[in-house]
Amino acid sequence: MIKSVVFIAFIAALGGFLFGYDTGVISGAILFIQKDLSLTNTEIEILVGAVLGGAVLGAFLSGGLSDWLGRKKLLICTALLFGAASIFTALSVNYIMLIIGRIFVGIAIGVSSMISPLYIAEVAPAKHRGALVALNQFAITIGIVISYSVDLGFAEIGSWRWMMGVAAFPAVVLLIGMFFMPDSPRWLIFHGFRDQAKVILTHLRGNEEAAEKETAEIETHIKEKARGWKGAITPWVKHALIIGIGLAIFQQLTGINTVIYYAPKIFQLAGFHSDKVAILATVCVGLVNVFATVFALWLLDRVGRRRLLLIGLAGMVISLIILAFTLRNDAHETGYLTLISLALYVASFAIGLGPVFWVLIAEIYPMGIRAKAMSLAAIANWGANLLVALTFLTLLDSLGSMSAFLLYAGIGVISWFFSFFLVPETKGLTLEEIQNKELHSL
Ligand code: BGC
Repeated sequence: MIKSVVFIAFIAALGGFLFGYDTGVISGAILFIQKDLSLTNTEIEILVGAVLGGAVLGAFLSGGLSDWLGRKKLLICTALLFGAASIFTALSVNYIMLIIGRIFVGIAIGVSSMISPLYIAEVAPAKHRGALVALNQFAITIGIVISYSVDLGFAEIGSWRWMMGVAAFPAVVLLIGMFFMPDSPRWLIFHGFRDQAKVILTHLRGNEEAAEKETAEIETHIKEKARGWKGAITPWVKHALIIGIGLAIFQQLTGINTVIYYAPKIFQLAGFHSDKVAILATVCVGLVNVFATVFALWLLDRVGRRRLLLIGLAGMVISLIILAFTLRNDAHETGYLTLISLALYVASFAIGLGPVFWVLIAEIYPMGIRAKAMSLAAIANWGANLLVALTFLTLLDSLGSMSAFLLYAGIGVISWFFSFFLVPETKGLTLEEIQNKELHSL
């Protein structure tokens, strides 16, 4: 029944929550870590980069592991890693321990970024798959806002250890929750456990006939399509790989994480000089991200992925251009215009490129290579994320804020054309129908 699928998606999306929390928490925590451990700016940059480097590694490991262990077991292992790495980081007695802890947190983030959407897509009914997979993106945005609020809460006592450590609680909920969740019926059929898969599908769809039909459809699809990379590289798969890797890179190079990681800094550039006001404005931007994502959940299975992606990208480009002009060197008193354009930018990301990228990569690949192809897209995404995080401050210094944001706007224009010419609509189709439809259209 749809109710149990929603519950399953909520539990799996805790992986997304931890992804959001653990990427967001560092922004506030570094202020105190720097003082406590007397770190230089370079050491801080390495600390911030550690989680992203770890995520690239996690994304790399996730493909093979999720085929070998299965989606459910890998989610359980990821929860264990999140919990253990959070506690290890919180108890670090020196810089090296802290870096090691953050690399392991990063590995967990990299794995969860692809396994949660993959697992949800494989249990969801076609009609609601967009919204259910995007629940993970929703959880990411909530994780980010909660991390900002936890940072604010613990700022009084300056405890970065608590900021890092509390992530162990949702990790335990994910761990316990996943024990009671079913395995992915598609993974089970792929490994020859047809009967087990049918029992799960009967429970999920609430109807034996529908379950038998879906089981048979998945089985035929798996038999028809070759397993592994070798036989899988058909024209459609090549096209789908370009879409996945392209959107992964564009999702980051259009600059979303300059806002998520550095919003207080941007607000200071725009004339909000008080730290408190800048952090408050950051929380507002985080909330816009959450609410716009709710809107996306509602629209994905109605308006479709492709249209939302194109509308969202257009909104991002327009707001980036306005933002660039509000941040030009001779601009005065543009603070509120900066706040509004940043909010518009984040809202446009949240209805388009944010959720659509993760939803599409969970549905456009055939079963035999789905996990590995998603892992490739996730590696590209985390690699591009690392690149933006490491170059943003240097770009601001060398090009100036106006040119930096115009550069992101230019990449947004390229992303729009890329999406317009390459991205298909997948709304309402089963994962197997997407393959059949696209294979025949190329
Ligand atoms: C992106 C993250 C980003 C988040 C913001 C995700 O889809 O992959 O890099 O921080 O959205 O909401």
